[in-house]
Amino acid sequence: MIRLIAVVDADFGVSKCGKIPWGFSEDRQLFQARTKNCVLAMGKNTFEETEEMPLKGRINCVVSRELSLRSSQDDYGTKYKTNVRIFRALEDVCAKYADFWLIGGAKLYNYALKKDLVGYALITRVHQCHNADTFLDSFQLEKFSRKILEENDRYSISEYFSKVFPSV
Ligand SMILES: NC(=O)c1ccc[n+]([C@@H]2O[C@H](COP(=O)([O-])OP(=O)(O)OC[C@H]3O[C@@H](n4cnc5c(N)ncnc54)[C@H](OP(=O)(O)O)[C@@H]3O)[C@@H](O)[C@H]2O)c1
Repeated sequence: MIRLIAVVDADFGVSKCGKIPWGFSEDRQLFQARTKNCVLAMGKNTFEETEEMPLKGRINCVVSRELSLRSSQDDYGTKYKTNVRIFRALEDVCAKYADFWLIGGAKLYNYALKKDLVGYALITRVHQCHNADTFLDSFQLEKFSRKILEENDRYSISEYFSKVFPSV
């Protein structure tokens, strides 16, 4: 099952100019705790635009139609030594791993949501708008039931359980 994890702004913004200006330390801690020792899947842009990549102690699966296995070995395997794997499609990650976290970005989130591949989502939403330039398709979240885990004056953290995967 795919578990989606994201931190969005009030408009469900995912990023602005290749960054997440609304990120904050509690959310990073939540991300670290939930994804520790897990398999992660991400779009190519997220992998290339995020400084910390690849994330240690996790298998980093990068989804790209263009990167070849050869270039993955040359560019990624050598550069980052291990724990990075390239997949042509998100469905190929599903075929290889029964359970993993989908960590972004907007293109891959929205693809997975539209295809009903996501069973569970953990979404931190800050209350402010940041004029983002990529967005999570929040309309897709209507297919989920929501449980608020935490809410304060800065953000809310909610779990979403897919009605397509009722056993989650
Ligand atoms: N707010 C958050 O929680 C959060 C989390 C992660 C990332 N981000 C931000 O999101 C931004 C990147 O998002 P993005 O939408 O531009 O890019 P992205 O989803 O990270 O990557 C897009 C690329 O991944 C590949 N891809 C995506 N969907 C695919 C599919 N269904 N099948 C095969 N390949 C697929 C394609 O690569 P090819 O062109 O090589 O085929 C595509 O160009 C970054 O700036 C990052 O900071 C935010």
